[in-house]
Amino acid sequence: MRYEIAPLYCRPWTINGMTPKLIESHYENNYGGAVTRLNAISEELEALDPSTTPAHVIRRLKQDETAALNSVALHELYFASLGGDGRAVPEMMASALARDFGSVDRWRREFIALAEALDGGAGWVLLTWLPRAGRLINQTISEGGQAVAGGITVLALDMYEHAYHLDFGANAVAYVATFMRNIAWNAVQDRYEDAITVKPPRPLQQKEFGDLPAISVEEVKAMLDSGTPVQLIDTRPRHYSSRAQDIVAGAVWRDPERVDEWIGALSKSAPVVTFCVYGFHIGCQTATTLRQAGFDARYMAGGHFAWKAVKGPVKLFAADAPPEA
Ligand SMILES: [Fe+2]
Repeated sequence: MRYEIAPLYCRPWTINGMTPKLIESHYENNYGGAVTRLNAISEELEALDPSTTPAHVIRRLKQDETAALNSVALHELYFASLGGDGRAVPEMMASALARDFGSVDRWRREFIALAEALDGGAGWVLLTWLPRAGRLINQTISEGGQAVAGGITVLALDMYEHAYHLDFGANAVAYVATFMRNIAWNAVQDRYEDAITVKPPRPLQQKEFGDLPAISVEEVKAMLDSGTPVQLIDTRPRHYSSRAQDIVAGAVWRDPERVDEWIGALSKSAPVVTFCVYGFHIGCQTATTLRQAGFDARYMAGGHFAWKAVKGPVKLFAADAPPEA
């Protein structure tokens, strides 16, 4: 496929402290060069026979393609980030920055610090929406570096020397300050509004346990750490638990096949949390049984391994095994 040049988004004569000559040279030579490079690489990729081309040739071409795609996309964003009054952050954007960075000023200081840290090097400073996390982050990427997977960048600052040398010489700090004064916040906010409509990756859903309440391993850990009463029950199946070496500290193992035998020892005055190996079936089924018996029971999402993945404390299993296990 052929990639087309995007028209220059900003109006160069409106940018305070940067000359049209700088923007023109940047657009024509560096952005234009990236589009030309990207098309040349695409043609090369389309022309080769993947079954006979040496692996290192394909690998290098794909790396070059990624670098060129990033250069094209980020240059377009960079020009679309300029041409406004950088001080006037519109309401929606201001509250998003305050939510994710503490305050607009805190965001600004972090963004500038990242840019100045690239002084003498090269790279990009980006403000990026992460649908997966539901928040904005600042990030830097340098040549060959990769942007966060799935992130949608809404503001881009080019820290390659070609972006400022013509006007600012080696004074990258003055260039960064000038960029900040010219951010087109309304355009940034428009992109942010589009970005937040992208849904996060679909979470694990267990339709068969529809409205059974779950609790995260982080929440259970916080309950144990703060001394909140909770009855934590490991219901890994017997065939699995006989091989297990560790158990969540603070949990007791109970055979999920024999709920009737141990349910009488539970208290109804404190919540019950059950879990199994990965959090799929057994822990959910046990929680359902306990709820039907009138207990405030939930299952711990992700089970034993999610607990270990957040480095929750465990102890030797044998010490806690019931006599019959
Ligand atoms: Fe550039």
